[in-house]
Amino acid sequence: MKSLIVANWKLNPQTLIEAKKLFNSVKKGIRNIKKVEIVICPPFLYISDLKKLADQKLTPNLKFGAQDCFWENKGAFTGEISPSMLKNLGCQYVILGHSERRRYFQESDEMINKKIKAAISENLKPILCIGETEDERKEGKTFKVLKNQLQKNLAKIEKSKLKIGSLIVAYEPVWAIGTGNPCEPKEAKKVFLFLKKILKNSIILYGGSVNSENAINYLKESGFQGLLVGGASLKAKEFIEIVKKSEEV
Ligand code: PGA
Repeated sequence: MKSLIVANWKLNPQTLIEAKKLFNSVKKGIRNIKKVEIVICPPFLYISDLKKLADQKLTPNLKFGAQDCFWENKGAFTGEISPSMLKNLGCQYVILGHSERRRYFQESDEMINKKIKAAISENLKPILCIGETEDERKEGKTFKVLKNQLQKNLAKIEKSKLKIGSLIVAYEPVWAIGTGNPCEPKEAKKVFLFLKKILKNSIILYGGSVNSENAINYLKESGFQGLLVGGASLKAKEFIEIVKKSEEV
């Protein structure tokens, strides 16, 4: 099975010109990649312009995703973007429940659950992010927190009805995101095995301070089926290196 490498650009870069430059460099660098599916998740605003630069023949493994979506498809919801809009733009994936959204925008587990359901009904593949905070980890609550998030975020979604690989879950320890302090592959492996037991048909990713040096450890040593990359996805060379290393697994 192909590894899945997801680039979460977050609120970057600041101009469309820079976004195009980054996208074109990545596109060029991954031309010969066969065993990895690469998902670029730019800010909403850039998706349609970048989509025009994509080349299905040259880089069929390069897909698009969004960093969030709303749970309704239309109506009076100022500022929101719907799953059907994303689908119409050509997105195949959507990141949901990222810890930054939980933290800065007070997204609750119930809201995330509604978003996941809405995404699935538009045939978008949700990339559900779950993870414990530093305090929860110190208190030994990691597994309890993850189980609780999964139960709430996936409530009333019949997992048996989901196609294999149509739900992606990213284990992103909150304390490892953007800190340069990644989770040790050994510790991450325990989490991977725990999640895999619950989510047999899902693809499970690791995210949190991934770079070209440590990427391979999470795939080889821990067993994850892919990576969610933040900061390192903004540097074309570094991101291409992560993809190339993943191709070797
Ligand atoms: P990071 O971010 O790679 O910069 O730690 C990962 C994420 O937030 O998805």
